[in-house]
Amino acid sequence: MPESPIRKLVPYAEDAKKRGIKVYHLNIGQPDIKTPEVALNAIKNNNLQIVAYSRSEGSEEYRVKLADYYAQHKIHVKANDIIVTTGGSEALLFTFGSIMDAGDEIIIPEPFYANYNGFSTASGVNVIPVISKIDNNFALPPIEDFEKLITSKTKAILICNPGNPTGYLYSEDEINKLAKIAKKYDLFLIADEVYREFVYDGAKHHSVMEVKGLEEHAIMIDSVSKRYSMCGARIGCIVSKNKQVIETALKFAQARLSPPTYAQIASEAALETPQSYFDNVIEEYVARRNTLTKELQKIDGVKVAKPKGAFYCIAELPVSDADDFSQWILEEFNFNGETVMVAPAAGFYSTKGLGKNQVRIAYVLNKEDLIKSVKILKEALKKYNS
Ligand SMILES: Cc1ncc(COP(=O)(O)O)c(C=O)c1O
Repeated sequence: MPESPIRKLVPYAEDAKKRGIKVYHLNIGQPDIKTPEVALNAIKNNNLQIVAYSRSEGSEEYRVKLADYYAQHKIHVKANDIIVTTGGSEALLFTFGSIMDAGDEIIIPEPFYANYNGFSTASGVNVIPVISKIDNNFALPPIEDFEKLITSKTKAILICNPGNPTGYLYSEDEINKLAKIAKKYDLFLIADEVYREFVYDGAKHHSVMEVKGLEEHAIMIDSVSKRYSMCGARIGCIVSKNKQVIETALKFAQARLSPPTYAQIASEAALETPQSYFDNVIEEYVARRNTLTKELQKIDGVKVAKPKGAFYCIAELPVSDADDFSQWILEEFNFNGETVMVAPAAGFYSTKGLGKNQVRIAYVLNKEDLIKSVKILKEALKKYNS
């Protein structure tokens, strides 16, 4: 199993903290946003006498309400098209296991969410990357690049929309292009849409589940982790109109018995979260994104892709080895007793040698802390390169 590029520097951060240094965590997608009151209250105020298993596919009540929620997003599915999982992570693992055999191939635009590597390894599946580039904000690579890679072993294309780590939001046209080749070559089109709510500048999110005629090919991965800042609840789901996919994923779900009971209660209640909560959260993320990208662009030699969604951006730094720099800044550097932790981007690529001078920055801290963090990065780069 590959190690997580997001978590592998944790021991160095912990050591820095032991030496009394304050570490700003820009390395992980753990938002500092409050979980909605309705979800917290549902846990506090329920009178469960036994914390029993739920149904393997998830509680009926939750799935029915979830289908209603999707309908508000132009995604028309029934409770039976949904399997509730232990986070989007388990949804990905079950999906890979359900649609692929060992030795099969999955095409993924890179850089991609690093754990796709882990889930592929665990399923014996080979990731075939298509390179997207910082110079056009990591837009969808030419569709011919995908077609060139399709073999008899290719079973699926996986996208993350909006993207972690790129922040890229695919246009309707890009989704349609992918849908066309999925149909042409009889592939699954899996879309990891866990950041659906986080789209900025008035842009619209287009789900693979909205594409007419793609019903048998489309699989959506979802999660409450980011939407409601409920990462610790561990609730996600697989959504597909393809009955065989759902029937197969259900076997995986039965083998692990049940998704968490309490967390389903909280997730069901979270569906009542008022729109004002999201309006405030989006406003906050837009302000953070603008602050972060503006401050980063002021540093000589730094290039940054402008994110249109999610809460990450990839920055190119004037260093040849961002892994070494990210470790050094924790081990050997501090600016007035403070330092920052970022995720080296090489781990988000599967092509060796790519992303060596890039880092992923999560803008999950408030604006003041982001400004301080970028100042620290700037001072660190000066010293590291001197
Ligand atoms: C793109 C993406 N997919 C899936 C996940 C898995 O999240 P969880 O298992 O908490 O739902 C994450 C978590 O960071 C993510 O960024």
